[in-house]
Amino acid sequence: MGTDDGLRACWRYGALSSRGYDLDKPVGFSFGDVEFYSRLLAGTQGEILEPAVGNGRMLVPLLREGLRVRGYDTSPHMVELCRAHCAREGLAGDVFVDDLATYRAPGRYEAVVVPAGSFSLLPSPEAAVAALAAIRDSLVAGGRFVCDLEPPPVGVDIATSPRQWWDGEELITMSSMHTEFDPRTQRTTEWLRYELWEEGVLRRGELQVFSLLWFGLAEFTGMLTDAGFTSVTVYGDYDTSPPGPQADIWTFEALRA
Ligand SMILES: C[S@@+](CC[C@H](N)C(=O)[O-])C[C@H]1O[C@@H](n2cnc3c(N)ncnc32)[C@H](O)[C@@H]1O
Repeated sequence: MGTDDGLRACWRYGALSSRGYDLDKPVGFSFGDVEFYSRLLAGTQGEILEPAVGNGRMLVPLLREGLRVRGYDTSPHMVELCRAHCAREGLAGDVFVDDLATYRAPGRYEAVVVPAGSFSLLPSPEAAVAALAAIRDSLVAGGRFVCDLEPPPVGVDIATSPRQWWDGEELITMSSMHTEFDPRTQRTTEWLRYELWEEGVLRRGELQVFSLLWFGLAEFTGMLTDAGFTSVTVYGDYDTSPPGPQADIWTFEALRA
């Protein structure tokens, strides 16, 4: 497979999937989470870290509020987009390439935030445990970890109709080719095909194997406690109350013991 033409396999967010994310969820686009995180973090004086920062959808609004947020991502394409958005607004965004499973900066941050369910992109339960330990170590004593998780899916939803985004004269499409769920490993794996079209001609393709780990609410609470967090609170759907059975998103807030 070539690097810049033909269909390119990419297990991370590549050039096309990053562009698709940026068109679908631009800076400031909110699921209700931007306002919720901003309320939770209001008044934080020290540094805040957003692992898996993506295009800066959340980081840029937090920087605009004067919070001292840094971010990293495994995808150089996402890091490049995020830096460009910061620069466009004259914000000093300190954004770099790194990995949630291994990044550690002992005692540095007052808060670490992982919105948009990105924690589920970790490759294995072992990587999730390692990431929680690294996040704990990277917080000051009493520092705060805030993380969103989607509840486990009830069934496998196979979306076949392509999604599409226009970017000037270029059209990016995304189709789900195949989805499978393995209950033993609590993992859904979806094959996403991104295509770039210009005047009806296919210019480029990219295949993303999109794999998500699922956690139960009690299970993740236990993982946080085992990793050395305390005072775990769980919110549902970006409201200050606990999640009901139909909640679409759980937000965990925990303090470094
Ligand atoms: C759903 S996007 C979320 C972006 C952003 N946090 C937001 O709220 O919109 C997920 C991001 O996680 C990144 N990612 C996936 N696995 C990662 C890992 N192990 N370490 C750091 N970033 C990772 C992807 O490259 C992608 O940019």
